[in-house]
Amino acid sequence: MAKFLVLHGPNLNLLGQREPEVYGTTTLDEINESIRVRAESNGHQVTCFQSNAEHELVNRIQAASKDKTDFIIINPGAFTHTSIALRDAFLSVKVPFIEVHLSNVFAREEFRRKSYLSDIAFAVITGTGAIGYELALLAAERKLTKQ
Ligand code: DQA
Repeated sequence: MAKFLVLHGPNLNLLGQREPEVYGTTTLDEINESIRVRAESNGHQVTCFQSNAEHELVNRIQAASKDKTDFIIINPGAFTHTSIALRDAFLSVKVPFIEVHLSNVFAREEFRRKSYLSDIAFAVITGTGAIGYELALLAAERKLTKQ
């Protein structure tokens, strides 16, 4: 049994209505539910958390090392491209993580190509839409069982 934390950054609470041509029509609740079903059916524990506030995401990453979270799946939203604080939090706790983006950040504006997290992530999944979270879960499970 592994313990997963799924973090969603700013504006992802609006999924389903926010720029559906870019981010799709699946809501955040639907994404969380599909991860939960998949993780729990494999005997894992999963906690999902969304915030528009950088410090709340930092606090959750810090808490992850204390509560023995095995793996974090995070879509940092726009903080991907700005947040040294999130980077430092991950470097501090050393909990492995996968960075997920619904859209292909490399096929969009130039500023979305810069990530403060990608080089310290276990993996990056970008452009596959909502299924990206499930792919991340699969990759994380595989990493945890084969390390
Ligand atoms: C995003 C991509 C980011 O550039 C953007 O700021 C988001 C969502 C994605 O899932 O495609 O909020 O992380």
